[in-house]
Amino acid sequence: MGYTRADWSAHFSEGRDFRQLGDDEKRLIAEHAPPPAGGRALDACCGTGELAAFLATLGYTVDATDFAEGALARARAERSTVEGVRWLCLDVEEDDPADLHEDGYDVVTLRMAVAFVRDRCRVLRGLGARLRENGTLIVITPVVERTPEERRHIALDEDELVLLTEGFEEAVRFDAAGMAVLVLRKPGGSFASLEKGRPGPQAVAGAAAVVTDPSGRVLLGRSVRNMWEVPGGRIETGESAQAAAVREPAKETGLAAREEDAHVLAVLHDDRADVRRITVVVRITAWEGLLGLPEPHRFLPLGMARSAHPGHPGGLLRAHRPDVARGMAGSAARAGACPLLPVRRRRASGGRRARPDRTAAHADGGVRRPGRLGPLPAGPGRAA
Ligand SMILES: C[S@@+](CC[C@H](N)C(=O)[O-])C[C@H]1O[C@@H](n2cnc3c(N)ncnc32)[C@H](O)[C@@H]1O
Repeated sequence: MGYTRADWSAHFSEGRDFRQLGDDEKRLIAEHAPPPAGGRALDACCGTGELAAFLATLGYTVDATDFAEGALARARAERSTVEGVRWLCLDVEEDDPADLHEDGYDVVTLRMAVAFVRDRCRVLRGLGARLRENGTLIVITPVVERTPEERRHIALDEDELVLLTEGFEEAVRFDAAGMAVLVLRKPGGSFASLEKGRPGPQAVAGAAAVVTDPSGRVLLGRSVRNMWEVPGGRIETGESAQAAAVREPAKETGLAAREEDAHVLAVLHDDRADVRRITVVVRITAWEGLLGLPEPHRFLPLGMARSAHPGHPGGLLRAHRPDVARGMAGSAARAGACPLLPVRRRRASGGRRARPDRTAAHADGGVRRPGRLGPLPAGPGRAA
């Protein structure tokens, strides 16, 4: 069946029902929400009213609400001898609750219905707000682990159950023949969430630095694994992506850049074997120093490679790190961070213009070596 209001109504009108209220549920309700003198109860999404009738037998005056007229028609007919229950047609998510009792309720129940509610936390906060002082909200729901695969949609998982308790200072969970019974009190508690303990390692985070020279050529190195790579590496604990993106090129190439000249272009996600990789692509818009090879055990030649599309480093990247190139293409064209904008090169310390290191295999000469790269467009032969 579907779950529109009409579907629910048809379901009940056809004489069909759901799981009956069990003895464990009755015992827990009586124990944790005994009626005070003049006690008033609200049973939201009441269906044909079995729980509302039980609350009445405990001594409560009850408002029972549902949005399915087919359910309410049966409730009125089948529970006509039960005293002290008002049957109200109300959509718990949409309708104006003006008909509900202004003085609030000592107990509010929501049984086997929360899984069908779209905005659960908002609805629960709304119901919680109707509790009188020392009032109790009781949510009864099937749980995923005790529900057959084909009926999982009527159940909540553990995370969803925890979310329901947010906003209540007191929350206790019980089991009633495989259903979760949440007893919630003191609404209006803090919604701030606290991280509990250390999260299990799940992914590695890295920074990929896109460094270009004034003519738009991209800095690439060929690793000892015979891959053409932009400089980059892991983001250390407590380090920003921008900091990692200036630290790694300094280590791998000798070029120095400042964090304020590092701009995040895109965040990429891929899987390498069973490890998820999150790569922050960072555009370096100014740098200084000499292009060297401080890590010869990791890289063969380093060089500025000309893009297949002059002035657009993304062209070359598309060939070698399609994921990085896609990230650049989709990035915001912020001033100073757009891949198409020319890069500033700082004066080397001492006021001298930085020059490329002739000892490193640089420029197109280095890039055009035989390898998996294939032919590259000819460049001027040295970094500008
Ligand atoms: C599985 S039945 C449970 C009925 C009853 N609480 C019980 O325990 O037998 C779910 C009930 O929630 C009602 N319902 C679902 N969404 C609703 C909504 N947004 N507003 C009011 N009632 C809703 C349905 O009409 C249906 O009666």
